[in-house]
Amino acid sequence: MDHFNYRNGILHAEDVPLPEIAAEVGTPVYVYSAATLTRHYEVFSEALAGMPHLICFAMKANSNLAVLKLMGSLGAGMDVVSGGEYRRAKAAGVPGERIVFSGVGKTREEMALALEGGIRQFNVESEPELLALDEVARGLGLRAPIAIRVNPDVDAKTHAKIATGKSENKFGIPIARARDVYAEAAALKGIEVVGIDVHIGSQLTELEPFERAFSKVAELTLALRADGHDIRRLDLGGGLGIPYRRANTAPPLPFDYGEVVRRTVGHLGCEIEIEPGRLIAGNAGILLSRVLYLKKGEGRDFLILDGAMNDLVRPAMYEAWHDIVPVIEPAAGGPLAPVDVVGPVCETGDTFARARDLPPLGPGDLLAFRSAGAYGAVMASEYNSRPLVPEVLVSGDQFAVVRARPSFEEMLGRDTIPEWIG
Ligand code: LLP
Repeated sequence: MDHFNYRNGILHAEDVPLPEIAAEVGTPVYVYSAATLTRHYEVFSEALAGMPHLICFAMKANSNLAVLKLMGSLGAGMDVVSGGEYRRAKAAGVPGERIVFSGVGKTREEMALALEGGIRQFNVESEPELLALDEVARGLGLRAPIAIRVNPDVDAKTHAKIATGKSENKFGIPIARARDVYAEAAALKGIEVVGIDVHIGSQLTELEPFERAFSKVAELTLALRADGHDIRRLDLGGGLGIPYRRANTAPPLPFDYGEVVRRTVGHLGCEIEIEPGRLIAGNAGILLSRVLYLKKGEGRDFLILDGAMNDLVRPAMYEAWHDIVPVIEPAAGGPLAPVDVVGPVCETGDTFARARDLPPLGPGDLLAFRSAGAYGAVMASEYNSRPLVPEVLVSGDQFAVVRARPSFEEMLGRDTIPEWIG
């Protein structure tokens, strides 16, 4: 459920009509709903009720400071994957003891930053990384709390570019080698073992892969405890999918995911950490864009928008579907016709949808791309020297620009021309 609904024939974000935001901020623009973000956090928290847990928002999905501040104020921790994300989490007021540091290639500088600033745990992805972390921690006279990310060799049954839990993927340590690596970790003075980490992929639309992965983690917990390790936390990663195509998809509910967690690892007495990104932020945001032109082609028509692949890259990058809805509600049962929905960027990949059935639309009309709150603005670029798309946060009847569109002066000001040219 989200808070983007038609009221009196106009699409609203909570109580704010979207044309009002378009008029004030311009398009394209991302619009987020605070009530939806809050609700998704609470749904997860309820799903894990009865088990000690921490929901660490995977802020790679949406790292706007206002969003992070809101999540932090609800009690969320953060899953960060870079020094930049760590700094953002801290800037939003999230304490170090609620931040987990994931990622396959942490630099020594990033390790030191988090050790000095405070960190709940590092999710270590390889033996060389483990040794580097040990060295950095000892250099600072500290011990780094760690979980080792194990690769359970489970097929997440999702898009190949976002599956991470198979042995051919670059992530984690093969689960069969885990006992050896934990033994190695336990012998390092700069390392403190606190748990196990697993994450098998993103946009999972079935529970069975989670069930298989978590069961393997449960077995490993018992084996590692028998080896003398104090396994007190299980980080189960993120990955639960959302219904991008409302007409025909219904991914599992957080409640049922919670039941899988309970069934597989609930009896172990561990604190559960999960790292949802998409499920918290995805349906809490839309991309609002305006039609520039309707171009009649040969055998197909093109709806040319002011938004482009640099603003929302998911369709170009993953062939992803986003529901596209007109901001002015079309008459029920009115005519629909197939159009290609495209942006102005100079490549054919700048296509949001092919032959999408839409009501008649023309220049000036506003469209909303649904489910764009996760992996939307964070993946935007200034390709074609298009200004980075701005972001707006709505709460009830109020809204605020939480990232302004940069001016062309700012954009040009970032480059410098060396004096030896020209
Ligand atoms: N934890 C780790 C270690 C991850 O790598 C990820 C996502 C998450 C948590 C959060 O997964 P989620 O709950 O959001 O599925 N750009 C792609 C998605 C990349 C996901 C990468 N890792 C997209 O637009 O679909």
